[in-house]
Amino acid sequence: MVRNLLVALALPLLAIGDAAAAEPAASGEISYFKQVLPIFRAKNCTGCHQPAKRGGDYVMTDFATLLKGGESGTAAVVAGKPAESELIAQITPKDGKAEMPKDGTPVTDAELTLIKKWIEQGAKNDTPASNAQRYDAEHPPEYLAPPVLKAVKFSPSGDVLAVAGYHEVLLHKPDGSGLIARLIGESERIEAIAFSPDGTQLAACGGSPGRFGEVQIWDIAKRELKLSKIIGYDTIYGVSWSPNGKVVGFGCPDNTMRGIDPATGEQVLFNGAHNDWVLDTVFSVNSDHIITVSRDMSMKLVEVGTQRFVDNLTSITPGALKGGLIAIDRHPTKDELVCGGADGEPKIFKMVRTEARKIGDNANLLKEFPAQPGRIFGVAYNKDGSRIAAGSSKDGRGEVRVYDTTNFQQVWKVEVPEGGVYTVDFRADGQSLAVGGFDGEVRLLNTADGSLITKFLPVTIKQTAAK
Ligand code: HEC
Repeated sequence: MVRNLLVALALPLLAIGDAAAAEPAASGEISYFKQVLPIFRAKNCTGCHQPAKRGGDYVMTDFATLLKGGESGTAAVVAGKPAESELIAQITPKDGKAEMPKDGTPVTDAELTLIKKWIEQGAKNDTPASNAQRYDAEHPPEYLAPPVLKAVKFSPSGDVLAVAGYHEVLLHKPDGSGLIARLIGESERIEAIAFSPDGTQLAACGGSPGRFGEVQIWDIAKRELKLSKIIGYDTIYGVSWSPNGKVVGFGCPDNTMRGIDPATGEQVLFNGAHNDWVLDTVFSVNSDHIITVSRDMSMKLVEVGTQRFVDNLTSITPGALKGGLIAIDRHPTKDELVCGGADGEPKIFKMVRTEARKIGDNANLLKEFPAQPGRIFGVAYNKDGSRIAAGSSKDGRGEVRVYDTTNFQQVWKVEVPEGGVYTVDFRADGQSLAVGGFDGEVRLLNTADGSLITKFLPVTIKQTAAK
């Protein structure tokens, strides 16, 4: 009930493409934080003008540098004087086209008027102190406590282990022997990570709850943010990379599934068939389809080329579904899918329907495993498809189970009494399984028997002075 109410309230905001219109000013005083900054995000200004990218050496994610300007040396914002502000010059059309945003949707007349008015009124910063903290390579996030780990992911070759932190993705050596790099971006929370099939790039999705969603594309060798795409006003989930490398798909809390071209950021996929948050996505072996799971309990199949909904892979019988779905992964070489969610039962589905749908059937279901305690938050296949792993959480305790996919027998299970398990991933060599969750420790388990190879905190905890 409460959740439905929240969703209903959020919808009018999400439905409006024009960010300026999202928060009408009551008093006539323009709010930077509520009205101007959302335009800079929606038009992707902050995607290019941030510490990790520095388009034109101009950083718009910090208020002082937003005013100061970039390489031209002219002040971007002169309080009280829109006509002398370089930022206004850059977004005002000349001969029908504005300089900024570079390669994007231009600001509307209404947005331009609003930004000018904000400058006229003195260009005041009303950002709440709690939102003003900025992080970059020189000012990395500090941890007073271990971060909750929502995603751990090995690179395709297995030579890097990426771990989602706070405002960053941490690249670790795959045996836990040391930190390689910190990829620090705008999003407070990173919900999911996906490597490009060739392992040269990494996609991370997340955002800042209630403010913006973001997909980041990083160049791993250069440790450089190639692209930041702001999407909507809330956190983005379940990023995946198509095997042909051409599309990065993800799920949104406005119930849509979307995809972008990772080279340009252009949106190339959009489908609204789900009726609750879309939490995870994966592509078919040949990249022609994307499969999505949602809090609405269903798994859906969408054709990439036409963006059309094809089929429900889960049953459509009323009452047959038991709780929202949270995680999905695909067999490395076959269109078979493992998923998990609120009912705690890992399930394997085939993607292609081989018989006509009859009401009451569940023809795509290949195997339903026994329920684990609580909800399943992470599932993964190993590289040759012979094993699946599922990680779950109940009342602050976690559990990991590994199954053989040839005979569907359980190989082992391991309890994690220190906290719920939110993410699992096999290393390419098949020897280790990385596990992350509530307590912030990355555990590397031996895939043969589940024994602990090692565990480590992916971040350094700042020691506070003893009281
Ligand atoms: C795709 C990346 C990209 C996007 C999106 C983008 N910019 Fe830029 N911006 C640049 C680059 C690169 C430059 C450097 C000049 C150039 O190459 O044209 C620049 C230059 C500027 C400058 C001049 C800075 C100086 O002092 O030299 C301003 C002001 C500016 N951008 C504002 C904006 C605003 C406002 C938006 C959003 C409406 C925006 N930009 C969106 C990439 C981008």
